[in-house]
Amino acid sequence: APALTAIQEEILQLKKERNAVILAHNYQVEAIQQVADYVGDSLGLSYQAQAAEADVILFCGVHFMAETAKIVNPGRTVLLPDLDAGCSLSDSCPADRLAAYKAEHPEVYVVAYINCSAGVKALSDVICTSGNAMKIVSQVPADREILFVPDQNLGQWVSQQTGRPMQLWPGSCYAHVQFTTAAIEKIRLQFPDAPVVAHPECVQAVRDLADEVCSTELMVKFAKETPAERIIVVTESGMLHRLQKEVPHKTFIAGPTNTCACNDCRFMKMNTIEKVRDALKHMTPAIEVPEDIRTAALTPIQRMLDWSK
Ligand code: 13P
Ligand code: SF4
Repeated sequence: APALTAIQEEILQLKKERNAVILAHNYQVEAIQQVADYVGDSLGLSYQAQAAEADVILFCGVHFMAETAKIVNPGRTVLLPDLDAGCSLSDSCPADRLAAYKAEHPEVYVVAYINCSAGVKALSDVICTSGNAMKIVSQVPADREILFVPDQNLGQWVSQQTGRPMQLWPGSCYAHVQFTTAAIEKIRLQFPDAPVVAHPECVQAVRDLADEVCSTELMVKFAKETPAERIIVVTESGMLHRLQKEVPHKTFIAGPTNTCACNDCRFMKMNTIEKVRDALKHMTPAIEVPEDIRTAALTPIQRMLDWSK
């Protein structure tokens, strides 16, 4: 293991004092991943948050993830290093617009990708992540018409994989839609032996040229199982740290966009190691969810956790 910096040591000390657990998404900077008790995708993080017994959950990810942790485990103090760490995808589906849509189409069965606010979850029938979307959608009663929110790219992919027609909310992740076929084809010429693994939030043309499309956690599985020694990773750049740690003898190449060699999510990167330290030191900012919204949002999350086992 690499030697820790003074600030990382300070965090481990504070973690003991506060009886805190640090949960980090695969897109966090390496310094944060190194002090986390668990690093994973949205699905793994949800299970970890629900099972957490520490007094404090310091959630290193974006707002909807910390909010989900609070919903499934309200007795803990849930801290997010930077309250402004939002998500463009989550923002593309405001709860009032979904409520208005439902008022006009009361028959729809709402499947919500976990990248949405507590208010949207509270209006949904079941939640899914990129790791379990097929499994969840295939369990929706066959006679129900599905509205998938908020990611049209993930929704389209799931619909193609399951053969289930769905209405798609017109949202997308600003970071993942920046990957283009032109940029990926170019890097492929440089590394012709390297398979391309892409996140389903990418546009269809990019998904179509990928050798594997999956959630960030399943990328770790793919990297371990493929005989290839080099892999082109088409998702947010933080994923490369996780892959390198899990499969140290292989080479991971960041999927480029037309304008940069790798792709950062500006929201994920708002969390810094200093803000992690400050959050534990000052026990702020803490996530609160009004109880009526929390209980309404818990129902579809719990349904997902049960269906996904
Ligand atoms: P997963 O890690 O669950 O695949 O999600 C990716 C993502 O974009 C989270 O914001
Ligand atoms: Fe949201 Fe995209 Fe960032 Fe994930 S990578 S948090 S979907 S903006």
